[in-house]
Amino acid sequence: MEKKRAQWGSKLGFILAAAGSAVGLGNIWKFPGRAYEGGGGTFLLIYIFIVLFLGFPLLLTELSIGRASQSNIVGTFKQLGHKRASWIGWIGVLGAFIITCYYSHVGGWVLRYVFGYALDGPAIFSDSTGYFLNMLGSHPDGTVSIPWVALLFAACFLLLNAVVIINGVEGGIEKFNKIGMPSLFVLLIILLIRSVTLEGSAAGVSYMLTLDWKAFTFSTFLSALGQAFYSLSIGMAIMITYGSYLSQDEDLISNTSVVCVMDTLVAVLAGFIIVPAVFATLGNEHVGKGGSFAFISLAKVFEQMPGGRFFGILFYLLLLFAALTSCVSLIESIVAFLTEHFSWQRKTTTIVLCLIMFLIGCLYTCSQVAVPLKGIWFDAANGVTHPPFCDFLEYLTDRIMIPVCALGSCIFVGWVWKPENAIAEIERSGKRFRLANVYSILIKYIAPLAIMMILLMSLTTGITLS
Ligand code: PFF
Repeated sequence: MEKKRAQWGSKLGFILAAAGSAVGLGNIWKFPGRAYEGGGGTFLLIYIFIVLFLGFPLLLTELSIGRASQSNIVGTFKQLGHKRASWIGWIGVLGAFIITCYYSHVGGWVLRYVFGYALDGPAIFSDSTGYFLNMLGSHPDGTVSIPWVALLFAACFLLLNAVVIINGVEGGIEKFNKIGMPSLFVLLIILLIRSVTLEGSAAGVSYMLTLDWKAFTFSTFLSALGQAFYSLSIGMAIMITYGSYLSQDEDLISNTSVVCVMDTLVAVLAGFIIVPAVFATLGNEHVGKGGSFAFISLAKVFEQMPGGRFFGILFYLLLLFAALTSCVSLIESIVAFLTEHFSWQRKTTTIVLCLIMFLIGCLYTCSQVAVPLKGIWFDAANGVTHPPFCDFLEYLTDRIMIPVCALGSCIFVGWVWKPENAIAEIERSGKRFRLANVYSILIKYIAPLAIMMILLMSLTTGITLS
C-alpha cells in the first residue's frame, strides 16, 4: 500500500519552515561582511533588486515544481520531465549532503560559543583568537591535537537535528520552527537596539544607508547574486521538497513573497546590527565575513559593549536557531529522497545519515588547523591548487553545485517542463498570476544567463581572492 505523503499542518507552519531554511548562518554573518565590502547602501540596493527579479521567480519555481510533482528532489525531475533530467536532483541531493557535513559542524561551534559565553566569558575576552583556535585543536604552546571539544558540540548539534527530523514534517520541523523563528526575530530586535544605541554606531548606520556610485561594479553584483541564492536556499532543491508538502489550495505567490521578505529582512537587520557595532567598537576596517570574524572579531565587539557577555549569549543563540532551522531543511530533503526512493525507514535513515555526515564533517573541522588535509581545485587564475579540505568543500558547493543545480532547474522549467505548466501550477489556487509573462522571460533567459555568469566567474576567479 502506498504511504500518504506528509503535508504541512498549517500555512504558517510552512512559511516558518521555509523561512527557517532560508534564514541561516548566511544571513547573519556572511551578509553583513559582504554588505560592508560592497559599499553598504549600494550593496543593499543591488541585493534587493536581485531578490526581486531573480530570487523571487526562482523560489517560486522550485516550490511550484515540488508541489506539481508531489515528489522528492530526484523524483520531481523524472516525473515532470524525463528520466534523463533526474541528474539535476542528484546534484541537489549531493550538494545538500556536502553542505550539511560542514554546516552542522559550524552549528556545533556556535553551540559551543553559547556555552562559552555563558560559562567562561572572561576566557573568550582575554584571548579571543586563542580561544577559537584552541577549540579547533591548536593550542597556545604550539601543539596541535584532535579538536575534541568542537567535534563533541557538532555531534550534539546533529543530534538536535535528528530529533526534529525523526518527529516528522508536521510534528517535528513545523513545531520546531514555530518556536525557533519568532525567537529569532525577538533576539534580532534586542540586538539591533543594543547595536544602534552604542556610542559611535551612527557612522555604521549611515554607511549602510549611503549609496556610493563607485561601488556599483560587476563584482559587487556577482557577490550579491551568489549571496542571494545561498541565502534563499535556492539551487539545492530544498524548496522543491518543502513545496511537495504543500496542499493544492495554497497560494504559492504569497508564500514565496513572505519567505523572500523574511529572509531579506533578517539579512538587512543583521547588517544593521553588526556593521554599526563593529564601527562603534573596533573601527570599520574590522568588518569581515569568515569564520574568524563570527568567532574572533565579534568577541572584541562584545567585550567593549556594556552588557557584552549577555548580548554575546543572545547573539550565539540567534545564530544557533538560524543554523538549526536551515540544517533541518537540508537533512529533510535528503531523508525525504532516501526514504521514498529506496523505501527506507525514516528513523534509521536519519540516524545513519547524520552519523555519516558527522564523520565527514570531522574532516572539515580537523582540517581547519589541526590536520593538514587538502582538497583539489582548478581555476583559470591559479591552475590546479590544493586548498585546505575545509575550503575545498565550501568551494565545491558554493561555486559549482549550487549554481549548476539552479541552472539545471531553470533550464528544466524554461525549456523542458515549460513555463506554462509552472504558471498553471502557480495559479492552481485560483488566483491569477499577473506577471506571468515577465516570469516566463526571467526563467527562460535572464536567470540562466545570470547563473552562467556566476559559474564562469567561479571557474575563472582565483580561489584565494574571495
Ligand atoms: N540559506 C541558508 C543560509 O542562509 O545560511 C543556508 C542554506 C540552507 C543553503 C539550505 C542552501 C540550502 F539548501
